Amino acid sequence: MSPAEIIQFDREVSSAGFRDAMRHLVGAVTVITVGRGDDVSGMTVTSMSSLSVDPPSLIVSVNRSASSWPLLKTYGVFGVNILSADQRDVAERFSGKGGLKGAERFAGAEWTARPSGAPLLVGALAAIDCEVEEVIERHSHGIVIGRVRAVQLQPADAALAYWHGDYLAIDRDEDIARLAEVSVPSARARKV
Ligand SMILES: Cc1cc2nc3c(=O)[nH]c(=O)nc-3n(C[C@H](O)[C@H](O)[C@H](O)COP(=O)(O)O)c2cc1C
Repeated sequence: MSPAEIIQFDREVSSAGFRDAMRHLVGAVTVITVGRGDDVSGMTVTSMSSLSVDPPSLIVSVNRSASSWPLLKTYGVFGVNILSADQRDVAERFSGKGGLKGAERFAGAEWTARPSGAPLLVGALAAIDCEVEEVIERHSHGIVIGRVRAVQLQPADAALAYWHGDYLAIDRDEDIARLAEVSVPSARARKV
């Protein structure tokens, strides 16, 4: 990397500089749901990822000042809903857009839940029912480890991603050919 590309290279990297770097990371958009009955909330996240396949477990990083945090701790369960491209409005509601809070965020979409679990979104690419296995509180956030208890799948469709502060669709049919074009030259490059 040339010096011109290094914005800052010491222990004092600013939060803004780090945020700018993270804008380059393409994130799958997921909605975490917490609580039961009328005592529900949830939030849009891009920090969810798989932890292990055996046992099935995942992690998500949750701001401890978010309204979902106390419900997550109280009930010890949460839902993970991997959004499809046509669920951008759900992502916006659960990011708190328009000042929506708690149960208001669930309006306009269909939800189900196992008796012991948090609401799961009907039509999500995948909806995953989790029990909180462990929480590691670090800095402003809690790293939540979820043990997967049930999975609800939808036929593959276009996924919703977030990149450079905007929502993007990744469409299986439209983008697969372009992805193949990208992968062929890079496969050749590895052989040389
Ligand atoms: C695309 C996107 C990704 C987000 N990812 C996270 C995340 O990984 N962790 C987090 O704590 N907040 C994340 N947020 C912010 C929360 O969605 C937002 O703070 C929360 O829903 C609102 O908090 P409230 O429930 O206290 O009103 C993200 C927001 C957006 C729009």
